[in-house]
Amino acid sequence: MSQPESKSDRRQFIKVAGAATALGALSAPRVFAQSGANHSLQLALIGAGGRGTGAAVDALTASNYPIKLVAIADLFQHKLDGSLAALKENFAAKPELIDVPEDRRFVGFDAYQKAIEALRPGDFAIFASPLAFRWVHFQYAIDKGLNVFMEKPLIADGPSAKKMFDLAKKADAKNLKCGVGLMVRHCRGRQELHQRISDGAIGDIVAMRAYRMHGPVATCFSTRKPEGQDELSWQIERFHSFIWASGGLFSDFYIHQIDEVSWMKNAWPVKAQALGGRHYRGDFVDQNFDAYAVEYTYDDGSKLFFDGRTMTGCRNDMSSIVHGSKGSAIVSTSGHTPGRVRTFKGQRQAREDMTWAFPQPEENPYQLEWKDLIDAITHDEPYNEVPRGVEASLVTSMGRMAAHTGQEISYDEMLNCPHEMAPGVADFKIGGAAPVMPDGNGRYPVPQPGILNDREYQETA
Ligand SMILES: NC(=O)c1ccc[n+]([C@@H]2O[C@H](COP(=O)([O-])OP(=O)(O)OC[C@H]3O[C@@H](n4cnc5c(N)ncnc54)[C@H](O)[C@@H]3O)[C@@H](O)[C@H]2O)c1
Repeated sequence: MSQPESKSDRRQFIKVAGAATALGALSAPRVFAQSGANHSLQLALIGAGGRGTGAAVDALTASNYPIKLVAIADLFQHKLDGSLAALKENFAAKPELIDVPEDRRFVGFDAYQKAIEALRPGDFAIFASPLAFRWVHFQYAIDKGLNVFMEKPLIADGPSAKKMFDLAKKADAKNLKCGVGLMVRHCRGRQELHQRISDGAIGDIVAMRAYRMHGPVATCFSTRKPEGQDELSWQIERFHSFIWASGGLFSDFYIHQIDEVSWMKNAWPVKAQALGGRHYRGDFVDQNFDAYAVEYTYDDGSKLFFDGRTMTGCRNDMSSIVHGSKGSAIVSTSGHTPGRVRTFKGQRQAREDMTWAFPQPEENPYQLEWKDLIDAITHDEPYNEVPRGVEASLVTSMGRMAAHTGQEISYDEMLNCPHEMAPGVADFKIGGAAPVMPDGNGRYPVPQPGILNDREYQETA
């Protein structure tokens, strides 16, 4: 294997960066310029799909910090090749940033280990595979002393949540910096809105609403598996269709808005009840509902009403709204970015009632989340978003489980629900058994509210 940059360069960097922090006067990029060290942080991308490739671009461009990509791991050769080609094209003017020769390109279920081993302690890895592998990859990275950035959601079930909480403590014990892809938390407009709401700008929050309604996207609906394709690989490829792999479309799509309004409330919901169903399913064989309506309750009795729909021909909406005793606010107007946050007197949210709006244009939160993570590494500040990311994933799963079972589900019930959806995930093999199996018509087990009440589906249809 060709050697990435030496450990002594890295140690030199840490020394200089540490001195700068102590002086408190020098910005991180200047530190690097003075140290003469180029590419002082090395990055491995694990899960080289759409988001992973985008995250690598953000990592390499969000700050002036010298970083280069030195390894890529994916389950599939074609995904790795596609990602690498896109990255090379993107950085055609700075080819030195993409230093991934053949012997640092890894494919298969153990590819993550090899990519991690290509790094030095203090470097960092991006995890952007489906969530089922999150704790497996995180555990290995902690053992090797790496900083990490991992995409949301982090877990789909209680047993994985407990593992991730434990791992987060281990990461802290090693002073590793851990970012989680809930990028809205890094949006400067949402941060100012959060401060204003916490300072009482709209009084006490009494109700919140959030909507994510659009046609089917990504791999949320699947038709029958092609003849001859390996079952496990196919399910991973179409991960939004399988609850074990992604938490289904509910967790994958809805976590951002459930997280952002709970942040405004400074609380997580304590329980949820929900409705949902499958319409127009035709030849689709996946596990998802195509409409969800969740009522989340917070400890003070206030509510979040969340509606999710994945249907064409219906009204589209992707917004989050907060209602307070003295006014109201928009947290997301029509998507993650730009947020176009604003506050209003009263609840009508008419233009003439607007009391404040964050100035436009806004910085991109996908870049800001990297800027913040890299700043934390540079200045050696505590930075671990994993516990909060697990909590966000848990309350999202709580709403999903409430819809899928037809029961009221509390936070503690979700955390302690023993249904482990991807047992043996650390030992998956190409061609090995998949966590769910289809019936004779190629259909996978679906939730049955009111019939299956203590788990979301039975593994065998
Ligand atoms: N923050 C956001 O706004 C945002 C947006 C999109 C996706 N995401 C998240 O990013 C993750 C990936 O989503 P995507 O849209 O990029 O999907 P994708 O299918 O484009 O990419 C996933 C990649 O992971 C690879 N992979 C699967 N299992 C693997 C394993 N065990 N080891 C290594 N690689 C593996 C796949 O082959 C694929 O290339 C998901 O968790 C998703 O929720 C976040």
